[in-house]
Amino acid sequence: MTGAEIIARCLAIAGMSESPGTITRTFLCSAMHDVHRTLRAWMEDAGMTVSLDGAGNLRGLYEARTPDAARLLLGSHVDTVPNAGAYDGVLGVVWGIALVRSLASRRLPFAIEVIAFSEEEGVRFGVPFIGSRFVNGTLDRNLLAQRDAAGVSVAEALRNFGVEPRPCEGARYLGYLECHIEQGPVLDALDLPLGVVTAIVGQTRAEVRFRGAANHAGTTPMRLRRDALAAAGRWIACVERFARATPGALATVGSIHAYPGAGNVIAGEAVATLDLRHAEDGVRRALTSTLRLAAEAIANSRELTVQWNTCLDQPAVPCDAVLTETLARSVESSGHQVHRLASGAGHDAMIIATIMPVAMLFVRSPGGISHHPDEAVNAADVDAALAAAQAFLREFEGRHG
Ligand code: GLV
Ligand code: MN
Ligand code: MN
Repeated sequence: MTGAEIIARCLAIAGMSESPGTITRTFLCSAMHDVHRTLRAWMEDAGMTVSLDGAGNLRGLYEARTPDAARLLLGSHVDTVPNAGAYDGVLGVVWGIALVRSLASRRLPFAIEVIAFSEEEGVRFGVPFIGSRFVNGTLDRNLLAQRDAAGVSVAEALRNFGVEPRPCEGARYLGYLECHIEQGPVLDALDLPLGVVTAIVGQTRAEVRFRGAANHAGTTPMRLRRDALAAAGRWIACVERFARATPGALATVGSIHAYPGAGNVIAGEAVATLDLRHAEDGVRRALTSTLRLAAEAIANSRELTVQWNTCLDQPAVPCDAVLTETLARSVESSGHQVHRLASGAGHDAMIIATIMPVAMLFVRSPGGISHHPDEAVNAADVDAALAAAQAFLREFEGRHG
């Protein structure tokens, strides 16, 4: 397949959305059935046997020359943020299928499994990586009991989708290679089509709930108020100030909800999210503590309470040195300069790294735009990503033949 054909497939998937006019696919939304139907057909066409696992991950298996051989895992995720672009996650799945298809039924000494992870973004349940956590065995009872805004638990959402929660079946894996758009401006600025990821930065995600007292906006004097939204606003300003003062830190309050949520009612409750990232786990954890203390101080000074719910404390993850060097040689042998870079975005690879070696290939993001409908890729860059993957397979075949 050409890069243009891979892009056309990504755009076809982009048309499957839970919200017409935008690209929005949260974990197990009904549009995901259409995505699975389409991916299943493409996987089968490439010679794979397809199954849906206990977390709603779609998995295509391309058997080796011999049965029960160890597998090379390829892929990425198919959920999106609200009003997303067409390539974050999906490109890695479509690229994996294209790579298998390019084998034209030739069998290798190892099997290839292409996985479309069901959940990576953390939008529906506030907790990311649900699909990859199933695969690495950390989708535990607590996570299955986590509820979305409508009160539906992860376990219920799985059943409603037609999946019975069950443990992941064991298989032997040689490694995981994920292809993903860079989602940042580095490769574009260097005018390079591809990048080789060295490490993925750590993330904290939390839900911070301020509780005060709802009351009448027209009759409650300012000094007698216990306004939860005003407290949250002060805290959000702190988040920005402290993160700016910490080199390398990226902190975002991307969502806030006030209750009861009417213009003439003082908010009795306000819930804000925190997404905090840093390459060094120590710095990230220290900044998290500072922000937590700041939330408590603001709440105390206004006679409010604050509840801090840590949804994720994910350490930074280095990519596997051997697999990454194989990938770097593959990029070079396919005619492109090797640029190594760390990923500021989270990826399924950082969870899968607990159970097998991982490597990641980045594809240039024109304009550095992502988590936005203007997200794009160049067809020639996708051609390069497929050529590099084919070179990777050749070297891998030499090593595991
Ligand atoms: C995933 O896209 C992330 O938020 O890093
Ligand atoms: Mn994303
Ligand atoms: Mn992604």
